Amino acid sequence: MPDEVWNRLAVALDVPDRRSALELVDRLDGACRWLKVGMELYYAAGNDLIETLRGRGYRIFLDLKLHDIPNTVAGAVRSVTGTGAELLTVHASGGPAMLRAAAEAARAEGAPRLLAVTVLTSMDAAELHAAGVQGTPAEQVLRLAKLATSSGIDGMVCSPQEVAAVRSATGPETILVVPGVRPEGSAVDDQKRVATPAETITRGASMLVVGRPITRASDPAKAARAILEEIGQAL
Ligand code: C5P
Repeated sequence: MPDEVWNRLAVALDVPDRRSALELVDRLDGACRWLKVGMELYYAAGNDLIETLRGRGYRIFLDLKLHDIPNTVAGAVRSVTGTGAELLTVHASGGPAMLRAAAEAARAEGAPRLLAVTVLTSMDAAELHAAGVQGTPAEQVLRLAKLATSSGIDGMVCSPQEVAAVRSATGPETILVVPGVRPEGSAVDDQKRVATPAETITRGASMLVVGRPITRASDPAKAARAILEEIGQAL
């Protein structure tokens, strides 16, 4: 399979500790190249685990969704620089000063590339309004995507529902990472705005994040390979 296909899928390691992460990685058996490590696992297992996973040949997407004052976020970017993690998330709603400080810290050698989280997929219009944001989630996603781009952030995370609009607003170079992906016939779980791997790629996604359809499959390696094949056919 060409690199172009391998680099389009990240498997979400949504497990609580190092042991469960390594068990899952054993079952994946090299059937994906990218692993996404989120807060749950990172707070428990830290940079040691990142090093172990890198040693096994995986590329790491660190989904820490940083959101704090500019100085603190820049410091956090520096703290993960040198771990070998290649992608790191920050919240676009942290605002332009925070995004610029993060982007500046990410210019150092060995720093990850940054992705901005726009609107959490768990938020609908009512949740946004309760948090003081007028307008629809789609409008807010586009506003934040433009803000992130103009603040020097390399890419963003958005749902399959917005990926086409974000792609046309931000251009071909922006990295668009999309969770909420479900192969035909698999359980939707708690995701609300889902699309198949092929649809998501066709709408302009750079990389798909897939968790449960792979990690809870009876054969995770087989499930990952099937998604990679579908991606390959859609490209
Ligand atoms: O199991 P599932 O495929 O739904 O996992 C999707 C992954 O993407 C999870 O790790 C989830 O935290 C993450 N994610 C998401 N929606 C976002 C950002 C990240 O589902 N907006």
